[in-house]
Amino acid sequence: MKKALITGVTGQDGSYLSEFLLEKGYDVHGIIRRSSVDYRERISHLEGNPHFHLHFGDLSDSMSLVKVISAVQPDEIYNLAAQSHVQVSFDSPEFTADVDATGVLRILEAVRANHLEKTCRIYQASTSELYGKVEEVPQNENTPFHPYSPYAVAKLYGFWIVKEYREAYDMFCCSGILFNHESERRGETFVTRKITLAAARIAQGLQDCLYLGNLDSLRDWGYAKDYVECMWLILQNDKPEDFVIATGVQHSVREFAYYAFKHAGIELKFEGEGLDEKGICTAVSGNAPAFLIGKTLVAVSEDFYRPTDVVNLWGDPTKARAKLGWNPSKTTFEELVKLMVDSDMAKVASEGAAAKVRTNLAEYLEKGIVK
Ligand code: NAP
Ligand code: GDD
Repeated sequence: MKKALITGVTGQDGSYLSEFLLEKGYDVHGIIRRSSVDYRERISHLEGNPHFHLHFGDLSDSMSLVKVISAVQPDEIYNLAAQSHVQVSFDSPEFTADVDATGVLRILEAVRANHLEKTCRIYQASTSELYGKVEEVPQNENTPFHPYSPYAVAKLYGFWIVKEYREAYDMFCCSGILFNHESERRGETFVTRKITLAAARIAQGLQDCLYLGNLDSLRDWGYAKDYVECMWLILQNDKPEDFVIATGVQHSVREFAYYAFKHAGIELKFEGEGLDEKGICTAVSGNAPAFLIGKTLVAVSEDFYRPTDVVNLWGDPTKARAKLGWNPSKTTFEELVKLMVDSDMAKVASEGAAAKVRTNLAEYLEKGIVK
């Protein structure tokens, strides 16, 4: 039985990848951080499975990684752990560099310290943020990098150190350059989930308004469950190579909001520009309350603008399709929006009035629903 070790197992991708590898018959080991509160919601359903094991460790602590890798002796390592929020990387750039850049080096060195460099394959969770202030559209494996946030700069180090160890030590280590991928399990402060949760709350009369930043920003959004398959395929390839993983279809934040609200029964019309732009309700359907008609349900706040923003991500998955046989169109944009809204409609309905959100912006920010 093959053994896989996943860092970031409690995250969105870690939870889907664990399920995927268990179904493939792997013994799955995950690294979790010690914390005063347990936050294992995404993997709680897997605990108790005899092939699912958790180990304490931290990407900022080399010895913990050396020890876990020594105990597990993995055939494959998926390094998904990261401070993964771009906005947060402006507030905590040093922590982000330690985990997202040096953390990758620590994994590679821990593999070498355990003399597993010839047997253990390593997947590094790289990102379309490397293209940052983009130099061409759409982006493929040959597009020049231009990182545009502390997160992206840290991830660029991760990308290059993986390439360096591949060439210097002949290790099977590769990066998946993944474009944005979302799901019902997406963290609540990423823009898609922030929107679907707000659309559900507003449609159920529990929130008045959603505040967003740059509505013009363009992303290539896919479904996380489809993307974890690619991580595995990259490690099953006959030689170690880097791959762009994307759908090849691009939408704006405004469009995502439009479709999410529509699916929640709320028709929006966007008026105005920049900070003055508003999404106004023009009609409702289903169970959405009629009193929403005429109200501003989406507004723009400078608080959610970034010091430098990446605004034009659009991936070209040709290489992954040709060499890995991966299908980038499994879940369409409309299906993704629908499944996220359906999930949040059900979640909000079950939470009921307890989910009432204060919408004075200062309180909204302070409650940490955003950013
Ligand atoms: P996520 O939901 O934010 O999960 C991040 C994971 O990293 C969590 O399990 C977190 O553990 C763990 N982690 C953070 N700091 C750590 C540390 N010092 N030591 C050990 N574990 C640590 O992220 P995701 O969306 O699943 O993304 C997975 C990876 O893909 C990340 O590296 C991200 O940068 C990259 N990526 C994501 C996307 C995307 O669109 N989702 C696109 C491209 C690349 P806790 O639960 O303890 O916080
Ligand atoms: N989070 C957030 N909140 N973003 C907003 C908001 C808001 O209120 N309003 C507009 N945006 C814009 C951001 O400025 C950005 O241009 C875009 O929406 C997407 O933001 P996020 O959903 O936070 O994701 P991201 O693209 O910055 O980063 C995600 O994708 C990367 C891959 O490209 C993360 O998952 C990264 O870890 C990943 O590497």
